[in-house]
This record gives sequence, structure tokens and C-alpha cells, in this order.
Amino acid sequence: MRAASRVLGLACCALLAATPVGTLDSTARPRSCRPSVPESCTLRELASLAGIRFGSTAEQAEVADPQYASTLAREFSSLTPENAMKWYSVQPAPGHWSFAQSDAIVDFAQAHSMEVRGHTLVWAQDRYTPSWVTAISDTQALRTAVAVQIATVMTRYAGRVHRWDVVNEPLDTLGTGPSRNVFRTLGPDWIADAFRFAHAVDPAAQLWINEYGTDWVPGKHDAYLALVRDLVTRGVPIHGVGLQVHRLPGQVADGAALRAQIQDFADLGLEVAVTELDVPTLPSDPNALTEQATEYETIVRACLSVRACREVTTWGLTDRYTWLDSLGYLEVPTRPLLFDDDYRRKPAYDSVRAVLAEVASTAHCHRGHGIRCHRHRTGGGT
Ligand code: G3I
Repeated sequence: MRAASRVLGLACCALLAATPVGTLDSTARPRSCRPSVPESCTLRELASLAGIRFGSTAEQAEVADPQYASTLAREFSSLTPENAMKWYSVQPAPGHWSFAQSDAIVDFAQAHSMEVRGHTLVWAQDRYTPSWVTAISDTQALRTAVAVQIATVMTRYAGRVHRWDVVNEPLDTLGTGPSRNVFRTLGPDWIADAFRFAHAVDPAAQLWINEYGTDWVPGKHDAYLALVRDLVTRGVPIHGVGLQVHRLPGQVADGAALRAQIQDFADLGLEVAVTELDVPTLPSDPNALTEQATEYETIVRACLSVRACREVTTWGLTDRYTWLDSLGYLEVPTRPLLFDDDYRRKPAYDSVRAVLAEVASTAHCHRGHGIRCHRHRTGGGT
């Protein structure tokens, strides 16, 4: 239902927006961003001054929709293909490659000076791995399938995708043990092997791991930290740790605890990113959007308080197309994002803009390879 309504919605917008809906290129109009006047800036501009990337996701149909595309290019500096670069999308059958959708998204990002997160080379959950892969029983055949997948996708986008989620969700969704995944038959070192192979394919690429629920599932952060610390200790080429931070309706984030979790990974010498932030609301709660604004501020501030945290990506940009409304077990509409169904800025947008402006106003920028900005330590982070 959601997928159909999503495609229909996008087609409708494209038709209605036959006339240009404004410049797609975020640099096309003179910008006079002054952090002291947050309204004079976009999220993308303030994030850059604060020294982080601010990202969203897209599907091919979304980058083809003028309203979605103009909002995306104006407000965001990082782009994650929501589904188009997943194994089941790019190689649905052995040797049958389908890159049209992921190419369109990478092309859009490049045209608008956005960095791309390559999501994801290996998703360690059988339910999201093509059945032709989970059916492989021969260890060597499986090892070859993984190598072909990683090499083909990384080679196609070498130099255009700089950061890869090499392994997504290696832990059990709501637990602390390894997830149910066919790749475990490759032995206990399969994750390290995937990273080593990815590094051999493209030594210039930044290699990341990505996990769900570490911000709230009891014990999951510690399990994730132990897994990552082991990789780092053994010299496995890993550069960054993604914390998805999909929140639940009514949850109240503990900013200090999240900052400490981010710091744990920074202490390993790794970069950190909030990679899939969304904050679903309860339709029955009259204060939902105000509470949501506070939740977004708390989480963005936690990232900004640790210098190694280099990105916040929201899992989508408009409530209209959120994945959460098709889950089937949340009260809908969940309204989890920064823009409403009609691309109007919500209180959460304003709170994110305000915290970015606060940090940007005390950052210092210098010319180096381009202009790089660094924020001062805030909130005790390093
Ligand atoms: O495109 C087909 C459509 O042709 C078909 O009619 C329809 C039938 O159900 O399916 C459509 O594909 C769906 C796809 O989203 C595009 O809408 C898949 O069924 C559906 O499973 C898929 O869900 C995605 C999910 O990952 C599984 O890949 C969500 O959009 C996406 O937001 C979600 O994102 C994940 C991250 O990748 C990893 N972290 C968790 C996050 C949420 O689960």
C-alpha cells in the first residue's frame, strides 16, 4: 500500500509541478547565511559551519520529484539511497545487475554537491538478503557471492561514494547477540573479512558499520562497542560507526547517555554518525510535535558535542513518504520527520536549525582543502 501510494504521490506531484517549483541547485541564489540569524540559513549551511554533514535519504522517484528534489538539495549535504543500493535491489538474481535507480540517486547527489553514504554492501539479516543468497549452502560459493557483490558495487561507484556501510545490523534487532544471517556460516571472522575485502577493492573508501537500536535496546550499545573494539584492536580497516537512532513514539532521549555512547566509539579513533534518525509521534498526543522538536534537538546536540561525530542523517525528509507508516504496528500517521506532508517546516526543523546555529556561531573556519569548519567542544565532549 505504502509503496503504491508513494509512487502515485510522486507522480501526482511531478504532474502538478509541471512549472518549475524553484531552483534545484542550492547554490543558485545568493545566500547570506548568518548563524546569528538562523532563519537566514539552511540546515545544510549551518551544519557545514558546525563541522558536520546533514543528510537525508532518497529513492529514485523522489529525486525525480521537483518538490522533494529541491528540498533535498537545499537543506541536505549528504544523501543515502534508502533502498536502491541494497543487495536485493542491485543484484536480485545471481549476475543480474540493476543499477538504474542507484545511479540516478548518485547522479543527483553529485549534481548538488552532496556526499553519498553507500547503504549497504552486506545487510546481516536474512529477511533482507536475496533468497538466492540465503539458499547458498556451500561456504566457498557464499564467500564468492559476497566478494562479487562487494567488488561490483564498490567498483561501480569508486570515487563517487566515499563512505560505505560495509555491514549493516550484525546484531540481533532487539537483542545483543549476532543476528540471524547466512554469512555466519563463513565463520566467526566474516565481518572482519568483509571489511578487509572492501578495503582491498577500494583503499580510498571509508568503511563503516551500522546498527539499529543501540540507543535504547538494553545492552545493545555494549555489544556493538565490543564488536567494533575487537575489529579495531585486530587492525581491521574500519573508519566509522553508524548509530541508526530510529526512535520510538513517546521515548525521551537521554542526551548525556547518547553523547557518552558516541564518545565510546570516538575513543577508539573512529568517526561516528547518526545515520537513520526519525522520531515517530503519537497522533493522539496534542503536544507531539513540540516533544518531537525537543527529541531532535537532544539527539543532534549529542552528536555536535563530540568532535568525531561528523554526520546526522534523517531517514527521509517528508512525513508523506516515511517507511514507518507502512510498518503496521505504529499508530499512523507517525509524522517522524522535519517536513510535513506538504513540505512545510515543522517545529523539529526549527529546533534542529537553532542548535546547528548555536554551535555554528562559535565554530571557526579556515581555508585548507576548501573551507573546513571546526566546532568548539560543547557539553564536555572531545
Ligand atoms: O518497490 C516495491 C514495490 O514495487 C512493491 O509493489 C512493494 C510490495 O510490497 O514493495 C516495494 O519495495 C519495498 C521497498 O521498501 C520500497 O518501498 C519493500 O517491500 C520494503 O521491504 C522496503 O522497505 C525498506 C526496508 O528498509 C527494507 O529494505 C524501507 O523502505 C526502508 O526505509 C528500510 O530502511 C532500513 C535501513 O535500510 C536499515 N536500517 C533500518 C531501516 C528501517 O527498516
